[in-house]
Amino acid sequence: MFIATASPPLPQPHGLGPQRGATPDGRRQPDVQVPAVVACLSPTALLAAREPTVGLTFWRRPARAGLRPAIASALALPPFSEVAQGSPDEAAQALMSRMPARMRPLRAELAMLGRLFSTLSGEAVVRFRLEHVADDACRQFHIDSVELRLLCTYAGLGTEWIGLDGRVRRMSVGDVAVFKGSKFPDSAPRIQHRSPPVEHLPRWRRSRLLICIDQPGVF
Ligand SMILES: [Fe+2]
Repeated sequence: MFIATASPPLPQPHGLGPQRGATPDGRRQPDVQVPAVVACLSPTALLAAREPTVGLTFWRRPARAGLRPAIASALALPPFSEVAQGSPDEAAQALMSRMPARMRPLRAELAMLGRLFSTLSGEAVVRFRLEHVADDACRQFHIDSVELRLLCTYAGLGTEWIGLDGRVRRMSVGDVAVFKGSKFPDSAPRIQHRSPPVEHLPRWRRSRLLICIDQPGVF
């Protein structure tokens, strides 16, 4: 179910389902213009990430209650940034092997998101960056110098982004977003985003835990 951009139907992913613009019996229909920002309550929203008009896709999902102990364990550590790359399962395993045992329930979650990203990027190898941040390290709105980037915030304030109407919005904890970066070869609108400023907040509200997934070799 669409919740932000209800008018056009969700497109089929590349290589799956009927050809865009065609009915099941093969008759041609006018092409449907997919909006720049697509949001959905299921991961199928992310399949629109490569569409030529789309700059941002969202899978809106509630915070993961089963991950609370693992998230709390991560937030009990000093701020960190841990990177791993490989197949989604290998990278998740490698990353979690360096973390406290109480964080291990995140392994399956990261592997699942990595597999989603691998499907979108068309590449078997993904790069994870799991971060606990508590400062304003990346507070300028920007477009990433990558093809696609997946972001999910597990705790703290979510990533902020600017809609095409100029309004600043904030992702909710648990949302999975795929932003199109400057290196993706199309002319879709790019959606600027930033880490929310936190240094003005009380110390207990500054910590954020987030995962960033993209393709190795691009920054
Ligand atoms: Fe970014």
